[in-house]
Amino acid sequence: MTLRQPSILAVMSIPPATNQAQGPAIHVQGLEKSYKELRVLRGVDFDVARGSIFALLGSNGAGKTTVVKILSTLLKADAGTASVNGFDVATQPADVRESISLTGQFAAVDEILSGRENLVLVARLRHLKNPGTIADDLLERFSLTEAGARKVSTYSGGMRRRLDIAMSLIGNPPVIFLDEPTTGLDPQARIEVWQAVKELAEGGTTVLLTTQYLDEAEQLADRIAILHEGRIIVNGTLAKLKQLLPPAKVEYVEKQPTLEDVFLTLVGAGGKDGDADKGSHDHKTTSNKK
Ligand SMILES: Nc1ncnc2c1ncn2[C@@H]1O[C@H](COP(=O)(O)OP(=O)(O)OP(=O)(O)O)[C@@H](O)[C@H]1O
Ligand SMILES: [Mg+2]
Repeated sequence: MTLRQPSILAVMSIPPATNQAQGPAIHVQGLEKSYKELRVLRGVDFDVARGSIFALLGSNGAGKTTVVKILSTLLKADAGTASVNGFDVATQPADVRESISLTGQFAAVDEILSGRENLVLVARLRHLKNPGTIADDLLERFSLTEAGARKVSTYSGGMRRRLDIAMSLIGNPPVIFLDEPTTGLDPQARIEVWQAVKELAEGGTTVLLTTQYLDEAEQLADRIAILHEGRIIVNGTLAKLKQLLPPAKVEYVEKQPTLEDVFLTLVGAGGKDGDADKGSHDHKTTSNKK
């Protein structure tokens, strides 16, 4: 099984509250994992508070996906312990799987079906009542109502990603894992996904996301941890992380807009509708003609 199959792992219902429900949503201690000689995780420790967004940062090959795979029971650790929603990943994997959903880097949506049909299908597979209503609610929540009846093959990358995240929410899993949720998306689509993730956490869902983008962690995360050479080398709030650097000096510099500023100004950062991408192209064409 690969990380591209979020729905299979997602829940049918939230497991009953346990005694551990008061503790952190995710608890990781002394986690170790090697692939043959390659020691990827060498003692990883962190906790994620319920209802918070935790960003796991690290360069390519740091072991982020390995951590996510262990936490979602796709992979066994060599040493250490990990629990999700109060359930031990090694001894209570079924309870863990019922508590989570996993969204990988590439959208796991069906191209031939419409966005709405994808959502209805997943709701049916989970034996939920009123799959149509669930689908319509999610389409609205992710600004896909207008695009809902269209085949996913006509969606932009950002729309697919939003649909993918929407699909992983069916059944209200208390914990969601997003492995590089915005890799490959344009700045506007990234902002749309960020907004969706923020709304999730506001609704009480615990989110663990991995990313290589510092600005993504900065935008979203309550806490940020950096995985480097098999261990968490920093773990704290953004403010704490910034304190690790020397205090800012006041300098007068002429601030050039970043490419992202320019891009967002030209295409308009506000649009979040299903047809936003179409609209933005029109806008860009107009400005180019001037
Ligand atoms: N099944 C496997 N067999 C052997 N080596 C593996 C396997 N899976 C991962 N690795 C190696 O383990 C290391 C960590 O991989 P992992 O996918 O966890 O990194 P990552 O931080 O998610 O990287 P990326 O940012 O590129 O997604 C890499 O060197 C990778 O090549
Ligand atoms: Mg990865």
